[in-house]
Amino acid sequence: MIVLKDVVKTYGEKLAVDHLSFSIPEGELFGFLGPNGAGKTTTLKMMIGLLPPSEGEIWINDINVWQNRKAVHKEIGVVFELPNLYNRATIIANLTFFADLYGVKKSRIFEVMEGLQLVEKQNEKVGELSKGWKQRVLIARALLHNPKVLFLDEPTSGLDPNTATLIRNYIKNIKNKGTTIVLTTHDMNEADELSDRVGIMYNGRLAAIDTAENLKSQYSKKELFIEFLQDGHIIKQNLPMGTEETEQFVSRLMSEGKIININTKTNSLTDVFASLTGGVLS
Ligand SMILES: Nc1ncnc2c1ncn2[C@@H]1O[C@H](COP(=O)(O)OP(=O)(O)O)[C@@H](O)[C@H]1O
Ligand SMILES: [Mg+2]
Repeated sequence: MIVLKDVVKTYGEKLAVDHLSFSIPEGELFGFLGPNGAGKTTTLKMMIGLLPPSEGEIWINDINVWQNRKAVHKEIGVVFELPNLYNRATIIANLTFFADLYGVKKSRIFEVMEGLQLVEKQNEKVGELSKGWKQRVLIARALLHNPKVLFLDEPTSGLDPNTATLIRNYIKNIKNKGTTIVLTTHDMNEADELSDRVGIMYNGRLAAIDTAENLKSQYSKKELFIEFLQDGHIIKQNLPMGTEETEQFVSRLMSEGKIININTKTNSLTDVFASLTGGVLS
C-alpha cells in the first residue's frame, strides 16, 4: 500500500530523514517509534504530500505522492497537530463542512461522531473544547470520507489517560475494519500495544523494523531479577540469563533457602531502543 524508496529530507544543512526505504502492506498498522527530533513528523509529512522529498520517492496505492498530491488526498486521512478546524463553529458544523467538501453523506457524520463519542457535545464550539475533545473531532474529520490509509502524528500526546484510551481503542477498531494506519509516537507502550510492526526511528534512520515481539526477543537483554537474603539484608539483583555463573549462583541460594523472589525481567521496547541506539527513549 505504501512504498518509500531511498527517501531523504534535508532542511538547509540539517539531514532530517536519511535514506529511508521500506514498505507497508495493506491493512497494517505501522508505528514509528522514536524520540523528539528523530524525523517522524517529517517522514509523515512527505508520506501525505505536504513536503517534497529532497531525494527518493513515495508511493501510496501505486500513486507517486508528490507528483499526484490531489489524487492521493482522496485515499488518505490525516490527523496532525495542525490548526485545521474552525474554532468559532460547532463540532457538527465543522464536520458538516468537511463532509460537504468530500461529498460524504450526512449519515456518515453521525457514524464517526458516535464512534468517537462526540454526539453529546456536537453543538459546542470547537474553540471551547479541551485538547482531548478537539483531537477526537480531528480524528472524526479525517475519517469522514472512509480513507484507505490513515496517518496520525502523535495521536495521544498530551491527552488525559481516559481520552488516550478511547482514541487507542478507536484506532484498533478502524484497523480491524481493514484501514491501513501509520502513526508516530514517542510512547513505547502505545507503539507496543497498537502496532503490527514498529519502526524504531533515530537520527533520521530506521534503526530496526519488525513486530514488537520480535524486536523485544531479538534486542533486549534477557535477565533474571532476584531478591535474596544475605547477612540479614534483602539484596536485589539483575543477573544475565543462561550463563553458568547465574545457574550456580541461583542453585546455591536455592539450596540455602535464601531466595525471596525470582522473576524473568519483562522486556520492553525501551530496552530495545536503548540497545539499538545507546540512548534513552523519552
Ligand atoms: N521546518 C523545519 N526547518 C528546519 N528543521 C526542521 C524543520 N522541521 C523539523 N526540523 C528538524 O528536523 C529534525 C526532525 O524533526 P521532526 O521530523 O519533527 O522529528 P520528530 O517528529 O521525530 O520529533 C529535527 O532535528 C528538527 O529540528
Ligand atoms: Mg513529531
